[in-house]
Amino acid sequence: MNTPSVFFRGINWQAVGFQALGSVFDRVFRAVFPIDQGIPAQTQGRTPEIGRSEGRVGRISLVGAGPGAADLLTLRAVSRLQEADVVFYDRLVDAEVLDLARPDAERVFVGKHVGAHAWPQDRINGVIVAEALKGRHVVRLKSGDPGIFGRATEELDAARSAGIPVDMVPGVTAASAAGSALGRSLTERGAANVLVLATGTGCADDPTPDSTRLSGPGTTTALYMAVRQADRIAANWMRQGLPATTRVDVAVDVSKPSERHLETTVDTLVADLAGHGATGCAILLVTWPMPVEATGNSGQQSKRERPDTGSGLRKASREIA
Ligand SMILES: C[S@@+](CC[C@H](N)C(=O)[O-])C[C@H]1O[C@@H](n2cnc3c(N)ncnc32)[C@H](O)[C@@H]1O
Repeated sequence: MNTPSVFFRGINWQAVGFQALGSVFDRVFRAVFPIDQGIPAQTQGRTPEIGRSEGRVGRISLVGAGPGAADLLTLRAVSRLQEADVVFYDRLVDAEVLDLARPDAERVFVGKHVGAHAWPQDRINGVIVAEALKGRHVVRLKSGDPGIFGRATEELDAARSAGIPVDMVPGVTAASAAGSALGRSLTERGAANVLVLATGTGCADDPTPDSTRLSGPGTTTALYMAVRQADRIAANWMRQGLPATTRVDVAVDVSKPSERHLETTVDTLVADLAGHGATGCAILLVTWPMPVEATGNSGQQSKRERPDTGSGLRKASREIA
């Protein structure tokens, strides 16, 4: 295995257009791992236990690509990308993240082009296993965290049933990135002690899951894949008693050049999403206020009452760049 300094300096950062990122990695690794010592065992994940391609034993790594920006990848994710012989990636993975793979690694798009069908999950399971059985190191690059609405279970099961070593590398999930982009915490002591990650879009058996059923006073709900379901979700919330004027933050394309934020309320959510042309690649964040007796305040955390986060958010239902 390469020493980290060689490993990271071996990347042609200039060629891939990441000089600044490369130099940051280089500096971090030189400081943390002196050149001759290599990567300490505890930072290597399970790599040593995994078969190496030279021995014709392949392996599969499910790697979290984060929300978009390459500098939100973990160092372990970059390491797996550099080791990969073939990278299978989908629609939400940014080109700049893919550029961190070795130049000679094969790259295979398994997502959905506009107007076309996505690869069925069974087919993806089949090809990653087939490639690993050839003795190759396969990276399955998934947006955000592979274990959060990423269908990782099917791919883990396929690898394990074929006897192929498989590991997972966590990534920054979209809800977490959205909170940071908006300059707000997803939890707040005494005000939001529960965090729910939910999807607005279900599977064939349950296409419209009740994404709001775990919401309640003192809960922050982060909704994935919810833009097209906003009508139903807002109606469910209000039926359950969430004040109509409760603030909703919408973070679109977080950490990508097209990132946008929208601040609205539950009752104006649908109109504002349509009015601002918010796409499907968005996270909705809602904190259900605590009852008045619990907080001693109005109990309605409306958009007008929250302090400006300093992230550039404007008041009222308006979009910010
Ligand atoms: C199939 S899920 C994948 C989630 C991913 N595994 C994660 O942990 O973030 C796709 C949904 O994640 C959310 N998402 C992914 N990337 C995003 C981004 N950069 N900005 C906003 N939402 C994002 C959107 O709700 C999108 O519809």
